[in-house]
Amino acid sequence: MKHSYTFFLLFTLLSVSIYGQEIGLLGNIYGRQHVTSLNGKWRYIVDVQERGFYDYRMNETPWGFFQDAHQKSPIELVEYNFDTSKQMDIPGDWNTQDNQLFFYEGTVWFRRLFDMKPEAGKRYVLYFGAVNYEAVVYVNGKKMGTHRGGFTPFNYDITEALKDGQNNVIVKVDNKRHKSDIPTNIYDWWNYGGITRDVMIAEVGETYVNDYSLQLDKKDWQRLTGWVKLNEKEAGREIRVSIPELKVEQKLTTDAEGRVNINIKAKPALWSPENPKLYDISIVCGDEEITDQIGFRCISTEGKKIMLNGKQLFLRGVSIHEEAPYTQGRAHTAEQAHILLSWAKEMGCNYVRLAHYPHNELAVREAEKMGIMVWSEIPVYWTIDWTNEDTYNNVQRQLNDMICRDKNRAAVIIWSIANETPHSEARDKFLGNLATYARTQDDSRLISMAMEVTSASNFHNVLRDNMNKYVDVVSFNQYVGWYRDTQDAEKMTWEIPYEKPVIISEFGGGALAGWHADKWTRFSEEFQENLYVENLKMLDKIEGLSGLSPWILVDFHSPARYLPDVQDYYNRKGLISSSGEKKKAYFVMKRYYDEKKKLR
Ligand code: GCU
Repeated sequence: MKHSYTFFLLFTLLSVSIYGQEIGLLGNIYGRQHVTSLNGKWRYIVDVQERGFYDYRMNETPWGFFQDAHQKSPIELVEYNFDTSKQMDIPGDWNTQDNQLFFYEGTVWFRRLFDMKPEAGKRYVLYFGAVNYEAVVYVNGKKMGTHRGGFTPFNYDITEALKDGQNNVIVKVDNKRHKSDIPTNIYDWWNYGGITRDVMIAEVGETYVNDYSLQLDKKDWQRLTGWVKLNEKEAGREIRVSIPELKVEQKLTTDAEGRVNINIKAKPALWSPENPKLYDISIVCGDEEITDQIGFRCISTEGKKIMLNGKQLFLRGVSIHEEAPYTQGRAHTAEQAHILLSWAKEMGCNYVRLAHYPHNELAVREAEKMGIMVWSEIPVYWTIDWTNEDTYNNVQRQLNDMICRDKNRAAVIIWSIANETPHSEARDKFLGNLATYARTQDDSRLISMAMEVTSASNFHNVLRDNMNKYVDVVSFNQYVGWYRDTQDAEKMTWEIPYEKPVIISEFGGGALAGWHADKWTRFSEEFQENLYVENLKMLDKIEGLSGLSPWILVDFHSPARYLPDVQDYYNRKGLISSSGEKKKAYFVMKRYYDEKKKLR
């Protein structure tokens, strides 16, 4: 594919002047009025060598698939065609929609046609709930931008690229793993590639509400504080904030920064698992209204206690991966979340650890409605490229976007910044900066991370981690009974020399649902059941134990679990099988939590 050099030069200049504009994350896309969904069937082209992006000299080509070219005459050479390519459901991963792509890691191009009649005085924001892992986004052949990170939303102002009538959005998605990415290139979950969450276009005014925050004041529970900010630094715009049930109606005027601060006297019923009270909120700017449902609560710690609304509570939890129940693939709907969260609730949970990455917004909102508290985590998992500045910038962006998206969600009580990371000076610096950054973005929630037991000689387990001073809750994973011997459980003692609450963020073991043998036969349900019985006796002895999130609610796909006829690329530590069968250990946890409930 040879083309004139001058043309290539011209293209390079053009492509640099990106038509789109990556703008601040649009707050609460689901509460906006004029939103067009692009969910549905998208055409796709598997592009193993990325020849739809590079020419044969590995330069970005002006003739890429983003041109959506069609043969105009019989003699013309065009070697791709979206119109006659296969289709798949978006949102959705490609691994479980095309069996040729189950293990695929590389580039797939996606195209969606849509009709639009752009109006003068309006702006159009193209919003992606998430794309795993890298997305290069084009609208009508013009590059909007590139986003890296598989579990947080991003958006572009595409107004200048739109035309009357039929438009197209084309996305180059690449899920190849890299050492310098977040997560890095090995992790114990499936690398589901694709446009895995909702895609929408929001129509907004030239000046619109870009984002807002509204929470209970930590010190005065009869006061609601927050802010509303416009997309422009425009003073003098009226913002109306109302909470009808609290008889709140505030008219505020933006300052030179295009912001208003909210400070409302009110006596809300506080959100809790027992009473997951949400209030209808309305924010009006000009002829646009954003609606939301917000809960008001206070999460804090006192010594070794976790306090919700001033009362000590025990986090009866379980860990969850974002996999569709009863089937396979990346989950992305409220209905799928409701099933997973209902299984947790049936087991007696009031809390879930959404591992190891931010789950979709609808799942967090569903937990909030169901009265289930949430640990939300960025995928700083295992051996990250600690000294790489790009890596740090990537993860700080992911942390920012996780907090930005869910800052108004009462259910989220803990931001987690890491999982099982090896100790080093570089790691401490990297995570210390992240923890500090998290607090600057949100000082109303607890910070934690899943640490590892540092030494365990003669059954005496010690947890020492320099990160203890950065976290509010000391959490760690331990696998007595799976990666260590079950018989040792009752002999174990635990030393956690920090005056902070303790959460066991993971423990557990595997079992193939329906396979029965004695309690010493690994992968039998009896083995897993006994492991849970012994672990719970052992963990109950830990001083300051404030919560558990056993690993894990449901079996999930992992590329590291090979054992034929037992694992078959599933991690079998679920308390429930991928087809929804509850294993014997599920009932051990249920009985334990039933007892815990009585202790309230
Ligand atoms: C680790 C890790 C999990 C993993 C689990 C396991 O603790 O945090 O992501 O799946 O162990 O080995 O099953």
